[in-house]
Amino acid sequence: MYNSKIIGLGFYVPDNIVTNDDLTKIMDTSDEWVQERTGIKERRWITEGSDDTTATMGAKAAKIAIERAGIDKDDIDFIILATLSPDYYFPGPGVQIQHILDIKTVGALDVRNQCSGFVYALSVADQYIKTGMYKNILVIGSELHSRGLDKTTRGRGVSVIFGDGAGAVVLSREENPKKGILSTHLHSQGEFAEELTVIAPAMGKRWVTDILKDNDPDDISYTPYMNGQFVFKNAVVRFNEVIMEGLLTNNLKKEDIDMLIPHQANLRISQFVQKKFALTDDQIYNNIMQYGNTTAASIPIALTEAWEQGKIKEGDLVVLAAFGSGFTWASAIIRW
Ligand code: UT7
Repeated sequence: MYNSKIIGLGFYVPDNIVTNDDLTKIMDTSDEWVQERTGIKERRWITEGSDDTTATMGAKAAKIAIERAGIDKDDIDFIILATLSPDYYFPGPGVQIQHILDIKTVGALDVRNQCSGFVYALSVADQYIKTGMYKNILVIGSELHSRGLDKTTRGRGVSVIFGDGAGAVVLSREENPKKGILSTHLHSQGEFAEELTVIAPAMGKRWVTDILKDNDPDDISYTPYMNGQFVFKNAVVRFNEVIMEGLLTNNLKKEDIDMLIPHQANLRISQFVQKKFALTDDQIYNNIMQYGNTTAASIPIALTEAWEQGKIKEGDLVVLAAFGSGFTWASAIIRW
């Protein structure tokens, strides 16, 4: 058995900054409301006519991660991509990444676990590396939300939160069992699937082609719905549980955490978790203020930024934790 270790990281966000004040021009909202409830000041949304898609943004982030890993693109043995906003209904964007980066015909897997998607993808990659099947795996989270949001006052409870972007890591074989990913922890509770969802394409309800056929501007069933307060309450509980589960599995205490990278769902959620684990401002990294919630991309973007800023050092205990639609929640305990 091997361990797996992150050897390269990268992220990409579109240039176009949309501030809360910009949003007040298209919907009834305010900078005060958005900052007070979520901590978000601005987010990136692609502009009309942009070439950015979930796949191209993912590829840009991945290219940086591969360069920083110091390996050749053809040393990549497998690709795993997490998203809830694929370019096509099918195929998933994993294969597009293989094509855009001109990587040889390795396997490409798509993960559909929304905000927990990156941690799920990392966990899958970790298992392949542990067994020795693959040596270098590209793990990506990428989201293009801005095309699918209801940007009118009707959709303001959801649309102000989400942003576009992508993050990627190269996960590689590590011989030292005390280094790299120590454990991952995955959970789901489908009972609450409809508390945060795009309901329309659900099998047995309405298939996506029916909606396209109707093309009804008043049909909001294809834009995200969220029972915000219910999701918030569950998020706070599950974040705490899944971080604790990871620490206990490795006989670690909350004092051992050097850096927590929580999924950037809401700054208030991150602050609850920070308080619960008695972490200083240097022991948690948040960037939701600049990017909004980028779902599967939020953890790899935050992880990359924290690493670029020298906030993560060799030997540090880094904890990743996520909660979101499904419900799904997950954590990863990493010795850097
Ligand atoms: O990443 C996946 C996991 N996601 C999360 O963890 C998100 C969890 N939930 C949340 O972060 C919060 O619930 C939200 C930020 C989404 C919403 O905050 P809230 O405090 O739960 O607000 P609310 O939805 O209960 O709405 C309160 C009021 C309502 O008005 P009334 O009915 O009290 O008159 C809304 O219509 O705020 C109104 N409102 C807004 N006002 C201005 C909702 N959205 C907006 C807006 N601007 N953008």
